[in-house]
Amino acid sequence: MDSLKRYAPLVAACLLAGLVAFPFLRNLATGERGMPGAQIGGHFTLQTSAGPLDTASLGTELTMIYFGYTYCPDVCPTELARMAHVYKGLGSDKTRVSGLFVTVDPERDTVAAVTEYAQAFDPAFKGLSGDRVRIEQVMRRYQVYAQKAGKDPRNYTVDHSSRIYLMDRDAKLMALFTMDTDIPTIINQVKNFL
Ligand code: NI
Repeated sequence: MDSLKRYAPLVAACLLAGLVAFPFLRNLATGERGMPGAQIGGHFTLQTSAGPLDTASLGTELTMIYFGYTYCPDVCPTELARMAHVYKGLGSDKTRVSGLFVTVDPERDTVAAVTEYAQAFDPAFKGLSGDRVRIEQVMRRYQVYAQKAGKDPRNYTVDHSSRIYLMDRDAKLMALFTMDTDIPTIINQVKNFL
């Protein structure tokens, strides 16, 4: 696959970084169940390489969601590599969990691009894109911040929030993991909700 060739060095570097970094990051943050009163979450439908995907039809008990963009120079590949580590770390339970990558940059991130990108980290991950109006609706419901930086319509970066969302099968927020949450902690949290 072209995607693997294209992203392999990046993915390898991030996987290595994750392996090296996590023993030094101890319990800086843990997911919190439910977050009372928070309005984050809800099912949504966006485009995948297999057509429109309604998250209500995923059929898994839990879903991990990351919002980012494929041109991201650092944070997104690092966090997706960590999400892939978590997913693999679930072992036989991973079939009970979905992994989604949702772009915040639909102008450049086609469905094909987000699919290649997500699957470079784990073949089971799904990439989602769509028109900007739909994407922004989802971003509001998940309280995702994203702002383009730069005026060139093709060459720009996007400042964005970076969290791994853990949702249950009703798309209710179970936990939010920041970049400071170490991988074993995330794995334990996910398993707690299975
Ligand atoms: Ni990013």
